[in-house]
Amino acid sequence: MAEQSLTKNILRKGLIGIVVGVVLVIAARLTHFPEIFQIMFFVYAMLGAFVFILLDAPSMTRLEGGKAVVGLLLFYVIISGVYIAGAGILPQYDPGIEKGKIEKLLKARRARTQQGKAEELIARAKALDEKADAITKQLASLGAGAQAVVVSSERDAAPAAASGDLVAVGKEQWELQECYNCHKLYGQGGKKRGPEMDNIGNLMTAAQLREKIIDPKSWMAEGFDKQYKKGKMPDKYKDLMFDEEIDALVAFLVSLKDASVNTPKPIKMK
Ligand code: HEC
Repeated sequence: MAEQSLTKNILRKGLIGIVVGVVLVIAARLTHFPEIFQIMFFVYAMLGAFVFILLDAPSMTRLEGGKAVVGLLLFYVIISGVYIAGAGILPQYDPGIEKGKIEKLLKARRARTQQGKAEELIARAKALDEKADAITKQLASLGAGAQAVVVSSERDAAPAAASGDLVAVGKEQWELQECYNCHKLYGQGGKKRGPEMDNIGNLMTAAQLREKIIDPKSWMAEGFDKQYKKGKMPDKYKDLMFDEEIDALVAFLVSLKDASVNTPKPIKMK
């Protein structure tokens, strides 16, 4: 008799659990929860049903002495097993993986803006080139040989405009890569951890600056021995930045030539 009502109890509450679970899954799906959450909601509904089944289950016969101890231990073993298996089977949230995904997204976006920038520059250079050609022809038709010199200098304006844009892109990289956290520039930013940058263009060449960014241990700012030894300047930019981005950042740094600021002398370390 008791057994029959227990089976009925299990069937009835189990069925309610499944119905509630399905309703939850449908609701989760309509509100665009990820699949993982849909599964979790169903599992929770079934767990709830299980608790309600236990509430109405007939009580166990009382255990005493050694049997009670064994029973208790067995209970712990089973519960631990269920928890560990649950954690192993159910999907877990891994911040490292999520971060990796975000980084990938950002990389793709960066690649696209970089590409767009390059295409824009090429188009602009082409337009200037065509203009120069047109003027050359015009002058030639007028027979003005001497004035052709002016034309050639106009032609040089194309790469000049391009390098101006490169410096702007590099300045943006200075902001995006947060170099200002440690380096003061134009009197702004953190000055405690790293040297001021305003005069770095007079102290380092483009190639040397590139080395320093790719491998911070390659150069050391004079008087910053302690910070250098501690590796304060991050060794991550070679992974975070595209080659073109490093080029642009270097172009920007080379343009910083304010001799009134005491940027420390760089010393070659390796
Ligand atoms: C967490 C702090 C920190 C960040 C962020 C940082 N640096 Fe540095 N950087 C330092 C420290 C400290 C030094 C001085 C010790 C040394 O040379 O390693 C330094 C030195 C330098 C030097 C040599 C300066 C000199 O006078 O010799 C250059 C160039 C430089 N950093 C460029 C950059 C650029 C570009 C970025 C951003 C992409 C950057 N740093 C980001 C801490 C930082």
